[in-house]
Amino acid sequence: MSPDDPQAEIARLIAEIEHHNRLYYDQAEPEVSDAEYDALYRRLETLEADFPLFADPNSPTRRVGGRPSEGFEQIRHPMPMLSIDDLFEIPAEELDKIEAKAGARPPKEQELVDFYRRLQKGLGVERIPVTIEPKIDGVAVSLLYRGGRLDYAATRGDGTTGDVITANVRTIKSIPMTLPEAAGAPAILEVRGEIFMPGKAFAKMNEERDEAGLPTFANPRNATAGTLKLLDPREVAARPLDFIAHGIGVVEGGEIGTITDFHALLDRVGIRKNEPLWTAETLEDVLAAVRRLDEERHALPYGTDGAVIKVIDRDAQQQLGFTSRAPRWAAAYKYPPEQKETDLLAITVQVGRTGKLTPVAELAPVLVSGTTVRRATLHNESFIQERGIGIGDTVLIQKAGEIIPEVIKVVVKRGDGIPFLMQAHLGGVCPVCSGPIERRETESGSKVEKRVVVTHFCVNFECPAQVASRMRQFVSRKALDIEGIGTTVAEKLVERGLIQSPLELFEIPETILATLNLGTEESPRIFGEKNAAKILQARERAVKEMPLARWLFAMGISQVGESSARELSRLHRSFGELSRSPILAELRTLKTGESKEKNPFLAPYEIASEVGPIVAASVLDFFQSAAGAAVLGRLAELGIDPQSDNFGPKPSEDLGGADKPLVGKTFVITGTLSAPRDDIAARILSAGGKVSGSVSKNTHYLLAGEGGGSKLDKALTLGVAVIGEAELEGLLAGGSAAEEA
Ligand code: IVH
Repeated sequence: MSPDDPQAEIARLIAEIEHHNRLYYDQAEPEVSDAEYDALYRRLETLEADFPLFADPNSPTRRVGGRPSEGFEQIRHPMPMLSIDDLFEIPAEELDKIEAKAGARPPKEQELVDFYRRLQKGLGVERIPVTIEPKIDGVAVSLLYRGGRLDYAATRGDGTTGDVITANVRTIKSIPMTLPEAAGAPAILEVRGEIFMPGKAFAKMNEERDEAGLPTFANPRNATAGTLKLLDPREVAARPLDFIAHGIGVVEGGEIGTITDFHALLDRVGIRKNEPLWTAETLEDVLAAVRRLDEERHALPYGTDGAVIKVIDRDAQQQLGFTSRAPRWAAAYKYPPEQKETDLLAITVQVGRTGKLTPVAELAPVLVSGTTVRRATLHNESFIQERGIGIGDTVLIQKAGEIIPEVIKVVVKRGDGIPFLMQAHLGGVCPVCSGPIERRETESGSKVEKRVVVTHFCVNFECPAQVASRMRQFVSRKALDIEGIGTTVAEKLVERGLIQSPLELFEIPETILATLNLGTEESPRIFGEKNAAKILQARERAVKEMPLARWLFAMGISQVGESSARELSRLHRSFGELSRSPILAELRTLKTGESKEKNPFLAPYEIASEVGPIVAASVLDFFQSAAGAAVLGRLAELGIDPQSDNFGPKPSEDLGGADKPLVGKTFVITGTLSAPRDDIAARILSAGGKVSGSVSKNTHYLLAGEGGGSKLDKALTLGVAVIGEAELEGLLAGGSAAEEA
């Protein structure tokens, strides 16, 4: 049955579904049964399919994810998204010292007291109404509603410009796409807040990912940030994100005089405000609220390590003003990490990617800052000896940054008192491969207070633990991003002897992947064809699209992290250039403390601090080692030759192409051209441009040769400029003649 006025019917259904969404997600008071809701939803889906012309991009049906995009557009925030000043609790030892000196003991919340006094001074009054609420550990977003409809959603970015993530935000059910007219919202209303992943949902998702052989996230915040960066909203829709509002951006065509007014508006439009929420007019009440929150905060659905205190009146806010980075009318009081005592049951040893042996404390389970802690790193032999830590002792632990458990000190010595020695503990061999272990001493600390740190290494390059963890790095999201291979799969491949080095992953046949048993013989868990196909796709993408920096980071070369990999790829075009780099050869000859800026050969490259003599030596040593040579040989055999996507050393003479005429331009290549596509792509990349596999509205140019086909059609529909090789040459030479092509 088709309605008389499908457009009106679609609009009515959208309004009705939004209404039920609000009741369900915001007020937790649904009016209709799930079945009734589903019926409305399906009716809307049908109508939208039958009358695509009237389909609304903000329709609730779109929340399960639109089509993947190629990257994010950027937007300038109508007003900057500022940061907030932190106020720290004063540790007890500090208070003792002050008391001994001054004869009086200040409150541990002294910084908060000072903040309140500054407000009083700035406003010239005694009583200042403020709100107190939790600081949400999530990802800040700005939602801009225009005429009651979500115009865009953007990340904070650098505070001035952020990424437009509207498609991803549409999948978050607690964010309304339209505001009810009756709410009387201002014509332009920017709501700021935090997207987060509730703790329980995070834990469940991580478990499922691990089961499926996908990489897990370190904490809910990372999971949220990583999810919002996904280009495919359908994937985002499958992740449990939520939103809570905490601030106002631009407001036009309406007045919001106080935070209280803002909260009332949020209630009317059905956007969830941050709770628990206290208001206070005196310092005593502020302190009481901050202490209350400390007791309640672990029960909140998101992580929080502080209370945000804000002046309620917007005129007063304005009077207090801003510093360059933060408002003077707000501050975040940070709670110190919670500390707990527990027993050290045993010390186990883990083998890292470089063979480093890390002792791990196995603890009697204890609840700290909201989660049960069972293990904590003990770093190395020196760490254990300096603190006199022994098995059986009672130790004090806390979570660094509210996340990573660490042992602070021994509180009760119960163990046998025999000092921990790695060699003796392990019987002189690696706990995984029983290979030889080596003791190394490194100096650390300042010149005055030198400290020798003793660490141990498994020196067997083929130790399964090392190989597996090199694999993990290789496939990780920040490296080659081969989805579908998580910890379990990497470990199984190595354990089954199917793989000895990460690059072999590129040779493993699909059938072997598909039949891989992740479980045991008794209860097998087969990886499956679908998952195997995913790996193949990701593998292909890595070969075709991943730039040099990603590959370099993936190699797991000692000392080469993500940012040094990027800097190395700024200085070199390929692995070939890197392996015989004159820049690195010169760099490694620098003595510690000798500056790159004063070296006449190096100075012009303006090399960032991420790449110094140690990194240079490590990279050159790697390529000269047997392992490095094998990697280069294998890459050549497989036809893999990743190119730099940020190449551009400062002096253009030496390595060519310092001026990058194609910066910010995205190209798609199609049809038959005079040179292999990869060669042309490499030239575009080294001129600062980007090359993408498919045409979208973010594409600047389609470079079309003979027989363009579907990409050409799409470019023409989207109005993307179509150019030929001659025009490309013009652009490479710095011209813009092709702009009108
Ligand atoms: S109000 C102008 N309230 O913390 C600053 N911010 O460090 C006013 N944040 O990026 C911000 N919870 O995204 C405010 N309850 C809360 C918050 C909160 C988390 C974030 C915010 C900002 C960052 C500042």
